[in-house]
Amino acid sequence: MNVCVVGLQWGDEGKGKVVDILAEHSDIVVRYGGGSNAGHTVVVGDSRFALHLLPSGAVRPNVACVIANAVVVDPEVLITEIDGLCQRNITLDGRLLISENAHVVLDYHKKEDLLREQSLGDKKIGTTVRGIGPCYADKVGRTYAVRMGDFRDLDELKAKLQVILDYKNRVFAAVYNASPIDGDEVFKKCGYYADRLLPFVVDTTEFLHKSIADGKSVLFEGAQGSLLDLDHGTFPYVTSSNSSSLGLPAGCGVPARMVDQYLGVVKAYTTRVGAGPFPTEQDNEIGQYIRDRGHEYGTTTGRPRRCGWFDAVAASYSATIGAIDAIALMHLDTLSGLKELRICTAYRIDGQDRTFFPANIARLAKAAPIYETVPGWDEDITEVTDFDRLPAKARDYVRRIEQTAGKPITIVSVGPRRDQTIIRG
Ligand code: GDP
Ligand code: IMO
Ligand code: MG
Repeated sequence: MNVCVVGLQWGDEGKGKVVDILAEHSDIVVRYGGGSNAGHTVVVGDSRFALHLLPSGAVRPNVACVIANAVVVDPEVLITEIDGLCQRNITLDGRLLISENAHVVLDYHKKEDLLREQSLGDKKIGTTVRGIGPCYADKVGRTYAVRMGDFRDLDELKAKLQVILDYKNRVFAAVYNASPIDGDEVFKKCGYYADRLLPFVVDTTEFLHKSIADGKSVLFEGAQGSLLDLDHGTFPYVTSSNSSSLGLPAGCGVPARMVDQYLGVVKAYTTRVGAGPFPTEQDNEIGQYIRDRGHEYGTTTGRPRRCGWFDAVAASYSATIGAIDAIALMHLDTLSGLKELRICTAYRIDGQDRTFFPANIARLAKAAPIYETVPGWDEDITEVTDFDRLPAKARDYVRRIEQTAGKPITIVSVGPRRDQTIIRG
């Protein structure tokens, strides 16, 4: 069984927890897109892991971890992550595979990301400043791109970096009046990256196809969320990759029909980090209540997340484009104590009620959410492991989300730990 886990909102839905749980029965976990902009949290007992580039399967010692072609790899972050796990007695030796065709994020990408965001003032995207956009732009532009396989020939890489740095430094000076990046320094670091990472660099497409032919079960771990998808999200307030499940086939070379199940992950409410439209946002005491109880601060940047009501228009759009079979509903516990809850079931745009999410932000900006109000519950539900033992109002809320989002909810999460999970038949 090959399963894809993908976020249906604007990221941080709890994909790390779901992947960790499903990884128990998987041989391989694959990251197929994004980069160190991702922050996936796995909680095992009292230990908390925040993973940015390694698939969340990394914390389970017998799982092979693949970083596929369309991931943009920041070698510095990856090495820190590998060493961090090693210090906690988890080794990646012999079970980490990095695509030779994955593109590399280097210092000048991070600098460009920062300079561009700073220059935009209040028009900025609110990126994670991890160099993601500039690296993907270089990939599409081809001329100035560096891939993991390039670490195999350092002489050739040196010559390539000279051309790249010459160009980048001219842009930094002319456009941003900024200081240049020292090319020798970048090259020196690349030598270290090559030493540390080349043992893991392979043809991951071959590995995946051979493994699937051998009957291995593969778990595909989405990064970001479907509404941050470059082509299908709320452009330009998106990330620079196809972060919905549509990015899976192109991202790792495994066709969509070789995936048996697409599992969408949503929170019982909605969050967003960075700028961009968010129709159900509650920039008030309700949003603050959710932020406080759900610890809604970014795993990668620590920024407070914007919080709001569950948006069934947005979630059902993501479920539709993502071929979603079932949903994992996270953070139900966070809503305990709210008297009433709201679910957005349609948008009113130019006087008409719409249920198909307009990803075009000019139209989305006009959307007034139409809410259904349902009663909340007071009980602490963080130790409930059986759906029937949830308060009746919590069960009703789950069922209503299921109806409005249009897909069965098979997992309900009531806390960050593995055992705080309700599996529904
Ligand atoms: P991801 O990027 O989708 O993997 O999500 P993040 O790890 O960035 O954010 C999810 C946060 O919620 C993490 O701190 C998780 O430990 C935590 N979490 C996951 N599921 C639940 C849940 O059901 N309840 C609560 N209270 N926290 C959860
Ligand atoms: P995970 O995998 C939430 C957001 C940023 C910004 C936009 C563009 O943990 O769910 P980028 O650095 O990608 O150019 O930023 O995308 N963003 C995320 N928001 N979770 C993430 O990842 C995100 N990755 C990027 O906040 O709005
Ligand atoms: Mg996250």
